Amino acid sequence: MSCPPAPTFPDTARVHARGDVGECFPVLLTTCLLLSVCELSTAGDFKPNILLIMADDLGIGDLGCYGNGTLRTPNIDRLAKEGVRLTQHLAAAPLCTPSRAAFLTGRHSFRSGMEASNGYRALQWNGGSGGLPPNETTFARILQQHGYSTGLIGKWHQGVNCESRNDHCHHPLNHGFDYFYGMPFTLVNDCQPSKPPEVDAAVRAKLHLYTQVMALGILTLAASKISGLTSVSWKVVLGVASLGFLFFISWYASFGFVRRWNCILMRNHEITEQPMVLERTAHQMRKEAVSYIERNKHGPFLLFVSLLHVHIPLVTTKDFLGKSSHGLYGDNVEEMDWLVGEILNAIEENGLKNTTFTYFTSDHGGHLEVRDEQIQLGGWNGIYKGGKGMGGWEGGIRVPGIFRWPGELPAGRVIDEPTSLMDIYPTVVQLGGGQLPQDRVIDGRSLVSLLQGAAGHSAHEFLFHYCGSSLHAARWHQKDSGRLWKVHYTTPQFHPKGAGACYGRGVCPCSGEGVTHHSPPLLFDLSRDPSEAQPLSPDSEPLYHAVIARVDKAVLDHRKTLQPVPPQFSLANILWKPWLQPCCGTFPFCSCDRDGDSSPQTPGP
Ligand SMILES: *[C@@H]1O[C@H](CO)[C@@H](O)[C@H](O)[C@H]1NC(C)=O
Ligand SMILES: *[C@@H]1O[C@H](CO)[C@@H](O)[C@H](O)[C@H]1NC(C)=O
Ligand SMILES: *[C@@H]1O[C@H](CO)[C@@H](O)[C@H](O)[C@H]1NC(C)=O
Repeated sequence: MSCPPAPTFPDTARVHARGDVGECFPVLLTTCLLLSVCELSTAGDFKPNILLIMADDLGIGDLGCYGNGTLRTPNIDRLAKEGVRLTQHLAAAPLCTPSRAAFLTGRHSFRSGMEASNGYRALQWNGGSGGLPPNETTFARILQQHGYSTGLIGKWHQGVNCESRNDHCHHPLNHGFDYFYGMPFTLVNDCQPSKPPEVDAAVRAKLHLYTQVMALGILTLAASKISGLTSVSWKVVLGVASLGFLFFISWYASFGFVRRWNCILMRNHEITEQPMVLERTAHQMRKEAVSYIERNKHGPFLLFVSLLHVHIPLVTTKDFLGKSSHGLYGDNVEEMDWLVGEILNAIEENGLKNTTFTYFTSDHGGHLEVRDEQIQLGGWNGIYKGGKGMGGWEGGIRVPGIFRWPGELPAGRVIDEPTSLMDIYPTVVQLGGGQLPQDRVIDGRSLVSLLQGAAGHSAHEFLFHYCGSSLHAARWHQKDSGRLWKVHYTTPQFHPKGAGACYGRGVCPCSGEGVTHHSPPLLFDLSRDPSEAQPLSPDSEPLYHAVIARVDKAVLDHRKTLQPVPPQFSLANILWKPWLQPCCGTFPFCSCDRDGDSSPQTPGP
């Protein structure tokens, strides 16, 4: 016996179809599960709502359900209690832009060019030309084609424009989302004038030089055209004007206005705040997410809430300020948990709890290096070594992974199998009844049967852990023996030595002088040593040589799947270009506040 064929409905009949099929769906699904003969996507044509929540820079050790007894995260803990919690859920990269590119495309970030080159490891400006290439297919695009309303609320950090100020080639609305509210960039300290600037000093210095050179070029051109016709006094005026212009441009571009260039909010294609008013952003995120759920409650919808929490500068409303026992960082985590709770409440109050597949994660590990004097301002990665920026050590990539779908996924279950954030892509595509792209490598594997309990093991035998564009480590889950091998080819040199982080350097480097190449590589058995404290040797581990040889072979096979693509983080793509800068008003006087409580429709100047 097999499941009845899936009825198909034209998109316009979406709302209706869902109502009809929804009622008999649990019966169909149960039949499928009992018989284990069919995939979920063919179980009727029921399409659950999909709610994906991703925190920014949150450490796995910051949550109550992952063992933190003093930070209060009751809402996220409740999600875990009512669903499935993964203990070995791994980000594909240890930094925002590449990790999110991999999440959105189901493939390693270097496959789309969204990975380090020229030393840059993330997009630096809204006004750069790099970003998620238009020919990449996000899960949002596939679900959109299968009748889903698709919304993104929060952080994007995947680029905006390619060639002109409003082409929006990398914008969420050009990547399968039909609604966007949030930051096209990311929060950085520079967004809050009282905080020390974060956008790397070297980048700022380069930018300074670059704008000067560019301004000089323009002026020389102008001067050469005019000089034929003008007198000496004109040349003097021009000279003075050039100097003034030069000074203005370089100051404006590189020092005074990072906030104005990068810290902006958009609704769809329109800028609503430039610069954004940080104090009200948390409440705007709440309002936007709740209203999205209400507007789309007849579903099916895909809502990706990409939280701005808990990235520095840790802007926290006064309801949470000073309330946690872990300083400003703890306050911000507790506020984030409140925000998650508000979103879950909206799901429940609209009667959508059992028809919504809900997921919570973080884009990578906590940021160990951010400190104010001796006060820790970054996340806590529990027993795991390392943090944000480190592609090999567990602390950089092991993140929370929580799934809830009452009635369909078991409640309170914990799964220790290795899984990747890239797995969300095939998982939601399957739930939405879509097909994976066939013309490219997809690194993720569907989690549906693992989460349901139909499969005992993850589909991943090997996982490859990159730092920038260099492979730092590889993991082998030897399923028959249950051993979990991890081989490190390259590790960062901590600063100071033995500190477990690179204090004073922002994040640890991936290549160059700040790393150590290991030959033979370091080997750990995570099933016995999850903190990667004791490297094994041929003396302590009889399988040492066999394991290294097997993993080396897997790395070789993996390397055969790599292909060069245009680098999105090349210097030419990273640099700030005035003609690409999203701007509310007339460039360079970009400023507006369209969502202000006091002045709801204030136009730009
Ligand atoms: C809980 O989180 C805080 C903030 O990151 C951290 O300082 C603390 O060590 C954590 N506690 C436990 C028991 O993991
Ligand atoms: C939702 O699912 C739970 C768990 O299976 C069940 O107990 C509850 O009755 C369901 N609620 C509705 C409204 O169907
Ligand atoms: C997208 O275009 C680039 C440049 O032409 C190409 O190298 C890459 O393979 C394409 N990607 C896909 C998924 O087709």
